[in-house]
Amino acid sequence: MNQPFDVAELAATYANKSPQDILKLAFQHFGDELWISFSGAEDVVLVDMAWKINKNVKVFSLDTGRLHPETYRFIEQVREQYKIAIELISPDQSKLEPFVKEKGLFSFYKDGHGECCGVRKIEPLRRKLSTVKAWATGQRRDQSPSTRSEVAVLEIDGAFSTPERPLYKFNPLAQMSSEDVWAYIRMLELPFNSLHERGFISIGCEPCTRPVLPRQHEREGRWWWEEATQKECGLHAGNMIAKG
Ligand code: ADX
Ligand code: SF4
Repeated sequence: MNQPFDVAELAATYANKSPQDILKLAFQHFGDELWISFSGAEDVVLVDMAWKINKNVKVFSLDTGRLHPETYRFIEQVREQYKIAIELISPDQSKLEPFVKEKGLFSFYKDGHGECCGVRKIEPLRRKLSTVKAWATGQRRDQSPSTRSEVAVLEIDGAFSTPERPLYKFNPLAQMSSEDVWAYIRMLELPFNSLHERGFISIGCEPCTRPVLPRQHEREGRWWWEEATQKECGLHAGNMIAKG
C-alpha cells in the first residue's frame, strides 16, 4: 500500500463513483496485491473492468468441487479470453474427506448449508485471504435485499481481518443493478456462463442453485429451502455481522 488511507472517508467519497474509479483507487493503493474473487457468473464484469485497468490483475475462484460443469467451462473460457491465470482454490482434503464420510454429499438439505460451505468455501477463502492485503468482490446491493442492501464500496473486511492485520475489501459493483451488469455484458459482448441462458440469474454451487421464475428475486434460486436472512455462505459474513 502506498499510503495509509481512511476507509470510512474513502467509502463515502467513492460511494457514487463508477466501478472503474473504485477499481483504480484499489489498484493505486494495492497494485498487484489486489485480488479479484470471481464466482464464474455475471461478476465477469468485474474481471473485465479490472483487466482493462491492469493486465496483471490477479484473480481467484473457490473451486468447491460442486460447481456446475458450465461454470468450470466458463472459468476456463475467461482464463483463455483474458490470458489471465485464474487461481483455483480447493478445499482442504483432510477436512473435506471426514466431513463427506460422516455426512454424505447432500447434508445441507437436512441441516443447512453452514457446515458444507464452511469446509468447501470458507476455510479455503480464509487460507487465501491470510496471504492477501486487499480483495475485490462482485457483490451488489440489489443481489439480496435481506443481506446486501448496505454493502459499501470499500470496507474493512468484518469477517477475515485480524486485529493485527486489517483486510481491505472493495465492492466496486455495489451500486450496479442487475440491469446495469447485463447491459455491460451485452454491449461489450463479454463471454457469459451458459446457465444464464436457462433461467439462472445468481449462480453458486450446483446442488444449491436453481433457476428462478419470472419476477422471482434472483436470491430465491440460492439455498431455496432456507430463510432469506440465512442466504449468505460466509464469504461475505460481514454483511450479516453489520446487520446484526
Ligand atoms: S455467495 O456468497 O452468495 O456465494 P455470490 O454468488 O452472490 O456470493 O457472489 C458475490 C461475489 O462473491 C462474487 O462476485 C465473487 O466476488 C464472490 N464469490 C462468490 N462465489 C465465489 C467463488 N466460488 N469463488 C470466488 N469468489 C466467489
Ligand atoms: Fe456446499 Fe452448497 Fe455451500 Fe456449495 S453452496 S459449499 S454445495 S452447501
